[in-house]
Amino acid sequence: MSIKIKDVSLELGVPVSTVRYWQAMFDDYIRPIRTDGGQRRYSAQHVKRFHQIMELVYVQKMPIEQARQRLLKGEGESDGIDWNKQSILLTGGTGSFGKHFCRLMLKKYNPKVIRIYSRDELKQHEMRIEFKDDKRLRFFIGDVRDGERLQRAMSGIDYVVHAAALKQVPACEYNPFEAVKTNIHGAQNVINAAIDAGVKKVIALSTDKAVNPVNLYGATKLCSDKLFVQGNAYAGASGTRFSCVRYGNVIGSRGSVIPVFLQQKESGTITITDERMTRFWITLDQAVELVLKGFRYMEGGEIFVPNIPSMRLMDLAKAIAPECEIKHIGIREGEKLHEALTGEDEGRNTFKFKNMYVIMPSYSWWQRKNYVDAVKMAEGFVYTSDANEEWMTIEDLQQIVFGPEMPSEVEDQPSRLIANS
Ligand SMILES: NC(=O)c1ccc[n+]([C@@H]2O[C@H](COP(=O)([O-])OP(=O)(O)OC[C@H]3O[C@@H](n4cnc5c(N)ncnc54)[C@H](OP(=O)(O)O)[C@@H]3O)[C@@H](O)[C@H]2O)c1
Repeated sequence: MSIKIKDVSLELGVPVSTVRYWQAMFDDYIRPIRTDGGQRRYSAQHVKRFHQIMELVYVQKMPIEQARQRLLKGEGESDGIDWNKQSILLTGGTGSFGKHFCRLMLKKYNPKVIRIYSRDELKQHEMRIEFKDDKRLRFFIGDVRDGERLQRAMSGIDYVVHAAALKQVPACEYNPFEAVKTNIHGAQNVINAAIDAGVKKVIALSTDKAVNPVNLYGATKLCSDKLFVQGNAYAGASGTRFSCVRYGNVIGSRGSVIPVFLQQKESGTITITDERMTRFWITLDQAVELVLKGFRYMEGGEIFVPNIPSMRLMDLAKAIAPECEIKHIGIREGEKLHEALTGEDEGRNTFKFKNMYVIMPSYSWWQRKNYVDAVKMAEGFVYTSDANEEWMTIEDLQQIVFGPEMPSEVEDQPSRLIANS
């Protein structure tokens, strides 16, 4: 979808002049693409954003500046936590998610401190430079396999985001014991250290690969999910709460398919495993906001799943390299044609809530007081990438891959292989 301003005005039912005014006032929230002649063109996502503006300004009668702040802050979903009084520990802080989390948190929410916890000193050194020695960031060298070190790192911490993982499918298949040590034992160590340090809330990052896993990476993440959900049972008097967020492919994260296609474009041939393949599609911004939303609503034991669009791999290839020949190489071991973000057995505990699906735990003591307006999904509900209601078009994909929303990591790493993370 790529439409002109007059079509946006028709879609919203407001004059073109109003759309122009909103465009000018919210220019850091809506960035249309320009044609060669300098004309603005809008995507489905832009139109969605105009609808949000209309809701706040027209329906809720919110002053423009307040609406701007609200939207830039991620629709205020993380309101309710006074981040500048909170200390955060972020395992895997030097990874794609971790760095983006830091960028957004430092810019929008000004936390007291974010402690980065990871193994490689070079990545930490580079990150320190990239973040211009920001004093709110602290760098701890440590392995999640090392419980004692984690305990030290969590001293005085309020919130933990657990992003550290081995996430390359082939690497986990080839080094299965290592995957177990990092993704499962590491999860257990994070839970133990958080309880001992009296951390308030912990969110662990899960993946669609954990639903009906067909590879070791997915299996270790499923086990990690179960540990975090059940970890609440160990918290006792410390009151520490554990939840997970689960999402699919992150656009442009380390090892994603986009850098591979961009590199193959040069050769004139794009390789596709199977032309029927579909995947969920989430931006790093949305992944970070999901974590913050999770912190806001979690009572412990939930798995938060965002409502996100799907894409066809063929459409992505066409968006990136329409001129290229497509070579089919067949589905690889440990890969699925389509991904699922909720499983059949989870269906009976899945609720629709605030543009997310929330898989609730089945503890008898659990209150669900934050979820009064949550809507229960039908028995057997599954959220799969092929049966999604929302799809990315080729134009949407082009705008993201070649537009300003593409994270810079993609250009940094053109030679990586497909991650399947
Ligand atoms: N990328 C995706 O498409 C995607 C999709 C769904 C879910 N996820 C999940 O999101 C999380 C973050 O993914 P990402 O894309 O940011 O990964 P990433 O870019 O590969 O980063 C991984 C981070 O974890 C650290 N790490 C790895 N092993 C560690 C260990 N044993 N102890 C401490 N730190 C360790 C790495 O630093 P060092 O190597 O220096 O230790 C790095 O900071 C993962 O849990 C992943 O499963 C990712």
